[in-house]
Amino acid sequence: MTVVDDAAAAAQPEPELQQQLPPGHGQTVCVTGAGGYIASWLVKLLLEKGYTVKGTNAHLKALDGAGERLVLCKADLLDYDSIRAAVDGCHGVFHTASPVTDDPEQMVEPAVRGTEYVIKAAAEAGTVRRVVFTSSIGAVTMDPNRGPDVVVDESCWSDLEYCKKTKNWYCYGKAVAEQAACKVSEEHGVDLVVVNPVLVVGPLLQPTVNASAVHILKYLDGSANKYANAVQAYVDVRDVVAAHVRVFEAPGASGRYLCAERVLHREDVVHILAKLFPDYAASLLKSSMLVLRCSDEVNPRKQPYKMSNKKLQDLGLQFIPVSDSLYETVKSLQVKGHLPVISKEIPAELNGVPA
Ligand SMILES: NC(=O)c1ccc[n+]([C@@H]2O[C@H](COP(=O)([O-])OP(=O)(O)OC[C@H]3O[C@@H](n4cnc5c(N)ncnc54)[C@H](OP(=O)(O)O)[C@@H]3O)[C@@H](O)[C@H]2O)c1
Repeated sequence: MTVVDDAAAAAQPEPELQQQLPPGHGQTVCVTGAGGYIASWLVKLLLEKGYTVKGTNAHLKALDGAGERLVLCKADLLDYDSIRAAVDGCHGVFHTASPVTDDPEQMVEPAVRGTEYVIKAAAEAGTVRRVVFTSSIGAVTMDPNRGPDVVVDESCWSDLEYCKKTKNWYCYGKAVAEQAACKVSEEHGVDLVVVNPVLVVGPLLQPTVNASAVHILKYLDGSANKYANAVQAYVDVRDVVAAHVRVFEAPGASGRYLCAERVLHREDVVHILAKLFPDYAASLLKSSMLVLRCSDEVNPRKQPYKMSNKKLQDLGLQFIPVSDSLYETVKSLQVKGHLPVISKEIPAELNGVPA
């Protein structure tokens, strides 16, 4: 592990300058899983806001401000000492690291035990003002008994037995990890705020393709030839990280914050992509979008559920429209070499297609 504590010390401004500086100056925060999709954007925003960032597992040395204020360290979620060292001396912790898989063995223990370790380490450090935990919509909506007219909000919890029965181990792991975070933070007197993002789209900073980007990529690269009769809520990665920083900085923030722009049927997603990128549909990718059909031709079309993002709107967050996020996801997948560029020029008027 490389923890460069001198860098954090050197970044502390003189007291008289502190008032004129942006909110992050003089504060050190730890971001777990900093090399991941969401966390990479979070580190970028925190550096822009003047924070010194201790990032675990990071690849982010190229970001503005990283040379002076990114402190690299390694931490394994199942190794308490490494987490304790990463959190040491921090004013805040953003716990984003988590396996993202439906394999129960890889998912549940690191998600739950890692989260307990992070909260205990924050308590033991004695300097941490608040921990922000990245939970998920998976901890919120997996409830077969929720009525069609119920507005999904922060009071909703996934049904653990239903998650187990349907082998949704990711949702199970995130729900149990969030419950553990609440319990352990209460026991240790740690101020915990939770962000529950829905499926996250938008440009990638990291070189690899994360799970939620695959959700879009598969409709364009020919790997999916049908879409499910299913609905899903979407949000832009830049809104997710803005939400994390807002709930960290807002003194009165508490509890859970549902982070969602809107709910779409898969068919809507495919139609938006086909409008934005018509050339993929008519391309050499034979099973691409125009020929995509629903895998369920028997049951009625699933209806989008209602969802409230009011708590984050009340903190001043304005959400990026999902069609813009989908456009930028695809552009980013092209730039990073994960998707061949079929048309060099995408007509400007097709950007921002309303969902
Ligand atoms: N993307 C979404 O749609 C979405 C939606 C809701 C919630 N979330 C939540 O947001 C967080 C970040 O997700 P993401 O989409 O950014 O996924 P990601 O790109 O896969 O990032 C996950 C990060 O967690 C780290 N990690 C996993 N297992 C670890 C372990 N045992 N020890 C230390 N680090 C570990 C990974 O590090 P390595 O790469 O080094 O393994 C990676 O940096 C997760 O908590 C996820 O549940 C994501």
